[in-house]
Amino acid sequence: MNPRGSRRPLTARAHAAVAARISPGALAVDATAGNGHDTRFLAEAVGATGQVWAFDVQTPALEATARRLQAAGLTQRVQLIHAGHEHLAAHLPPAAHGRLAAVLFNLGYLPGGDHGRITQPETTLAALEMALAWLHPRGLVSVLAYRGHGGGEAEYEALQAWLSRRGPAVRCLHRESPSANAPVLLLLERGDAPGGCMQEAP
Ligand SMILES: C[S@@+](CC[C@H](N)C(=O)[O-])C[C@H]1O[C@@H](n2cnc3c(N)ncnc32)[C@H](O)[C@@H]1O
Repeated sequence: MNPRGSRRPLTARAHAAVAARISPGALAVDATAGNGHDTRFLAEAVGATGQVWAFDVQTPALEATARRLQAAGLTQRVQLIHAGHEHLAAHLPPAAHGRLAAVLFNLGYLPGGDHGRITQPETTLAALEMALAWLHPRGLVSVLAYRGHGGGEAEYEALQAWLSRRGPAVRCLHRESPSANAPVLLLLERGDAPGGCMQEAP
């Protein structure tokens, strides 16, 4: 159980927070497609008129995501991109700039894949900058950071340092980690987003 008394996994909490910002026809990005769970969630959330771009650097991840989308009949709504999320701007149409309802980051390694191939602080931070620049003013960036694997804690520390450097330009709505060394969920929006801070857990 986490400190707020919920047994819901952090992925479900991330999805709930993101779902509240997405309406049919929305544009969204899965920055780390992995096994496609998050991509499928986004594809369902944006509906038949929406569009999802899903990035991953590994072929097995994109293949797993493609299979999951195929099984769910959702392939038409998703463009799979074999590239690092730090190259987001090179792969999205200019018309999507400032219109992304949500960008999901689920950091770390591919479950069931090569555990040595992990997201890296430098590219993660570059992608986060880009995600915020392409975000709709009311959009949400969700970051799930895993601290328990080699490199995970360093990446989380880099995230924290980046957040303090960015100051009011990035609003951190919610930070949750059920226990020390456990995964951390960060929900971020643009500092110029309308409305105040969300006080409650998603
Ligand atoms: C924890 S998994 C993602 C889980 C996934 N969202 C899901 O629903 O199954 C992390 C993924 O990030 C990918 N990755 C690592 N570096 C990346 C980068 N620079 N850009 C995009 N994906 C990256 C890894 O290949 C791995 O598949």
